[in-house]
Amino acid sequence: MQSRVTTIAFRGIDAVPVAVEVQILSGSVGFMIVGLGDKAVAESRERVRAALAACGLSLPPRRITVNLAPADLPKAGSHYDLPIALALMVALGALPQEAVDGCVILGELGLDGRIVGVAGVLPAAVGANGLGQALICPAVDGPEAAWASGDMAILAPASLTAFLNHVAGRQTLARPAPSTRLSDPFAADLAEVKGQESAKRAVEIAAAGGHNLLMVGPPGSGKSMLAERLPSILPEMDAATLLESAMIRSVAGALEGGRLDLAAPYRAPHHSASMAALIGGGPRGRPGEISLCHGGVLFLDELPEFAPTVLDALREPLETRQAHIARANVRVTYPARFQLIAAMNPCRCGRADDPGHTCKRGAACRDDYQARLSGPLLDRIDLTIRLNAVSPADLRAAPAEKSATVAARVRTARERQAHRLANEPARLNAELGGSAISETVDADSDAYALIERTAEAGRMTARGFHRTLKVARTIADLAGSAAVRRIHVAEALGYRHALG
Ligand SMILES: Nc1ncnc2c1ncn2[C@@H]1O[C@H](COP(=O)(O)OP(=O)(O)OP(=O)(O)O)[C@@H](O)[C@H]1O
Ligand SMILES: [Mg+2]
Repeated sequence: MQSRVTTIAFRGIDAVPVAVEVQILSGSVGFMIVGLGDKAVAESRERVRAALAACGLSLPPRRITVNLAPADLPKAGSHYDLPIALALMVALGALPQEAVDGCVILGELGLDGRIVGVAGVLPAAVGANGLGQALICPAVDGPEAAWASGDMAILAPASLTAFLNHVAGRQTLARPAPSTRLSDPFAADLAEVKGQESAKRAVEIAAAGGHNLLMVGPPGSGKSMLAERLPSILPEMDAATLLESAMIRSVAGALEGGRLDLAAPYRAPHHSASMAALIGGGPRGRPGEISLCHGGVLFLDELPEFAPTVLDALREPLETRQAHIARANVRVTYPARFQLIAAMNPCRCGRADDPGHTCKRGAACRDDYQARLSGPLLDRIDLTIRLNAVSPADLRAAPAEKSATVAARVRTARERQAHRLANEPARLNAELGGSAISETVDADSDAYALIERTAEAGRMTARGFHRTLKVARTIADLAGSAAVRRIHVAEALGYRHALG
């Protein structure tokens, strides 16, 4: 008695087809799963045995071998339960082979035969659709799978019994419908931030061009407040980014209720975050924060408090927009196109900028604190701004501009970029590479003259030169100007504050 069904293994967000072969032979009694499975796969035996028993099917006292092929590909996770159970049912004659032919199957089983949700259903559905196959997945993950394609066949049963009833035609399952998460009507609004007009302007430029931003200021000046309100002025993700971002979250098991969120992701990991948490890794090569915020914002509050090695690991992904994870047994790459927003106090005590204040530790308080940030990391930050403490007069002022007004300007600036960069791999000004900058930025001679003069007067790296041009381009986009003029460059140069 033999059978064969298809499931998948994950390599990053790519789904690799895996065949589940079952053979039942006479001989010594046993139930073995072979094919480089991890502990969850080994434990699958007990769940499958119990779930089948719950459907009134007991395993025969024979030698049962389950092979997961290709045998040299490591298999991790609990989603092999359902394909193994269905393959066993076919081998035992309890299910016709046609019921599972042409289907990619994944799902975990409860001891009572429930089909429990698993991570990675969206990439599995995208993979199955690419292979021209249907998908059988847990009911809770159906809405997520439905995003892969409008016309692929998807069966999302809640239990083995529900699946058997569907196959027998007793109770047909409907195709699940895709669902999106509604935006939060109580989201924080930029109008709540009083004063800090120049910082708000920098946040708007950062949002419009996807630029990295560092805010330096004393405690309580509104840095965290501003960062938290950045998502309220960001446009929704485009379809391709939405799918990529959702696939990453799906693999990480972080797609709540299978609902996709159109809003750009915003992640603010704590400064105690480890390298694996931020960049990705762990035994199964999970995506890290930088991939979970693909297409959105990574906010690092209290930047110098992060471990210097963790911060330096951000340098490569900031440049390549990908997270490479290489461990002894896993080697995967996840997309990581994110915008870095960082905030910090000027020194450890936070009072370095107070007029008339002299710290007991002297200049060391500031120097030691700032030395935790490496030059190359700071060189990747397009906009650096200094914030001052808000004055009581500012705090009593009427609410400022609402997020919706700023969001409309950001959207217009992004549309201009999309139009200009239609034939470029970059989607935002911040993503422009060296040669694309000179070809697409369209700066006039006065604008170039100003940057060149500044570059000659002070030290400016090649990256700094390009960065200024890109920020100036975004400022021109916000102003609705086709060319980058001197005034735009002048403002861009104003966001090049050195620390200190
Ligand atoms: N510009 C502002 N307008 C209105 N309220 C403000 C402003 N700045 C700060 N506040 C008030 O102060 C609180 C602290 O602000 P926030 O957490 O943003 O400061 P911070 O700059 O991040 O400080 P820290 O360096 O200590 O993290 C806010 O919750 C808010 O109540
Ligand atoms: Mg803060």
